[in-house]
Amino acid sequence: MEFMQEYQQALQLVEGALVDCLPVQGPQGELLEAMRYSLLAGGKRIRPVLTLKFCQALCGQMEPALDYACGVEMLHTYSLIHDDLPCMDDDDLRRGKPTCHKVYGECTAVLAGDALQAEAFTCLATSRRTVRPESNGQACAILGQAAGARTGICAGQYLDMSGEGKHLTLEEVSRIHHWKTAALLKAACLLGVAAAPQAATQAQWSAAERYAEQLGMAFQIRDDMLDEESTTEALGKPVGSDASNQKTTFLTMYGLARCRELVDAHTQAAKEAVIQAFPNSQFLCQMADWLAGRSH
Ligand code: IPE
Ligand code: IPE
Ligand code: MG
Ligand code: MG
Ligand code: MG
Repeated sequence: MEFMQEYQQALQLVEGALVDCLPVQGPQGELLEAMRYSLLAGGKRIRPVLTLKFCQALCGQMEPALDYACGVEMLHTYSLIHDDLPCMDDDDLRRGKPTCHKVYGECTAVLAGDALQAEAFTCLATSRRTVRPESNGQACAILGQAAGARTGICAGQYLDMSGEGKHLTLEEVSRIHHWKTAALLKAACLLGVAAAPQAATQAQWSAAERYAEQLGMAFQIRDDMLDEESTTEALGKPVGSDASNQKTTFLTMYGLARCRELVDAHTQAAKEAVIQAFPNSQFLCQMADWLAGRSH
């Protein structure tokens, strides 16, 4: 199957499941509406696709990982809602639509993010799709690490925000990128491994981790480039946001040409990590190449 066809197939599975994973009615209806507004606004869905495809690379099937795939996308969507708030990047457009706080107000947007994070963990903890009894607990630990204040999103976002307007070293910016972005991509891949019915080998866990770390760096550097290189229409979020918030990024440190080389080097390293370890790594390699060249 062609890469795009295979991607679309996984995407369809995720989109179908996301529609059903949140309640629709209740006295808190507007809060639920705000959560659905952001969750179902589109987006590339690369994290849930990675979850499904790592599971498939191990066991030939995507379905065992479907609840974990929904969970990782919910957590990602929460992080975007909060990232766009006036107290953070203060952006008005996300996924081609006005940001959550622009439509529902800041209070509801904060709660929509909080609730999506809680729903994400509930989704993992209560999944009945997995066979091994330890999978759900393992999945919660994986996502908790990626979301948290040790080496996860909160830690990365804190450093990202407190670095605004300051000169940061390469080491500092790399740490921010690892924690705010690569950590969740790593979780996405590892959740797929955790969902597979048969336990993966240590070599496979390590290969998934190496792939995701490299992919995550390539992904955030490409995101930094797109802030200058792309258009608001193509991205569905405002270009120039990093510049106006005086962020130090790979773009401000190295410029577009060197960033391009770095994205390609990290992408190559990601592919090398999985080629030996998984019986079918073709899609994972194609996905890395596709993300390196993405225009949004
Ligand atoms: C945006 O992530 C936030 C970053 C980590 C750079 P995506 O580029 O995956 O956003 P969506 O999900 O496609 O909207
Ligand atoms: C955000 O990085 C990463 C998270 C949301 C955790 P950015 O601030 O660069 O993401 P965009 O560019 O707004 O999507
Ligand atoms: Mg940000
Ligand atoms: Mg932002
Ligand atoms: Mg960005």
